[in-house]
Amino acid sequence: MRADALAQIEGASTLESLDAVRVAFLGKQGTISALLKTLGKMSPEERQEAGPAFNGLRAEVTEAIAARKAVLEAEALNAKLAGETIDLSLPAPEAPIGSVHPVSQVMDELAEIFADMGFAVATGPEIEDDWHNFTALNMPESHPARAMHDTFYFPDADDEGRSMLLRTHTSPVQIRTMLKDGAPLRIIAPGRVYRSDSDATHTPMFHQIEGLVIGKGIHLGHLKWTLETFLKAFFERDDIVLRLRPSYFPFTEPSVEVDVGYSVEKGRRVVGGSGDDEGHAWMEVLGSGMVNARVIEFGGLDPNEWQGFAFGTGVDRLAMLKYGMDDLRAFFDGDLRWMKHYGFAA
Ligand code: PHE
Repeated sequence: MRADALAQIEGASTLESLDAVRVAFLGKQGTISALLKTLGKMSPEERQEAGPAFNGLRAEVTEAIAARKAVLEAEALNAKLAGETIDLSLPAPEAPIGSVHPVSQVMDELAEIFADMGFAVATGPEIEDDWHNFTALNMPESHPARAMHDTFYFPDADDEGRSMLLRTHTSPVQIRTMLKDGAPLRIIAPGRVYRSDSDATHTPMFHQIEGLVIGKGIHLGHLKWTLETFLKAFFERDDIVLRLRPSYFPFTEPSVEVDVGYSVEKGRRVVGGSGDDEGHAWMEVLGSGMVNARVIEFGGLDPNEWQGFAFGTGVDRLAMLKYGMDDLRAFFDGDLRWMKHYGFAA
């Protein structure tokens, strides 16, 4: 029986057939189990001889099954691994990869350009109160400029009774940063802003970048140099010509609107040269000015000690100009074909 059992174990080629062998010899009805049962009917002398022999046989067969099982398991694993071999010579399936949205890319570019000029990035909430968005920027309750902002208001005021709104510009970050960090300051504040307005050049949500410099003896010359340096770096050309026009913002005095010269090439606006050159025109790109003394006071600083300049511009408009895009709404449609057309998606 011993030789038979060992031969069958060795001959089992699968885990299933090995288990069948185990049942046939060691199972409840198995032949070795039956053999062990006969011990009960033997005389003590017979049992003394047969007992150790039968038990030895059972131990030997159990061990042989375990050893064979280990071998068969290893073989099964090797077969599985062999079947899963990866053919590295096959061409890889094309996996779509993401890309950076043009607005995000332009915001990164702007942060980098201004970082080179020593500006830190500041932030503020998109859900603002009317004190930061208007009052502290020298637009008291009845100020007509408030009406021009097409503001989205929330139905309820905050705990201090201030009307809540979606910020209409990034200028409230000027106030928040002055109150938090004091002076001197050199910051930019890029972010989303909201106005109830929508056509080919306006979307209800758009992006602005604010700049604020507060220091001692800051004057309009610093503003002009900063904007010129920034626009040349952003459009990557040296022939950018600025035109500063007197304007009005409640939070700056004097206020200056900044135009750049451009021409039209192959139906696209290309920034560069003076707007007064042959075939050129002027285009407004920035609002700016010296920070109004009242705004400096609202920021918790003494205007006799601190002066500064501020500027604000639309990031989406800058992106459109730089990359020759013509419909602002397309920025927020999420249409990959549009991204591809302008080289922003793989
Ligand atoms: N906040 C102004 C706007 O949204 C832009 C601006 C910023 C003008 C800072 C002057 C100074 O139009």
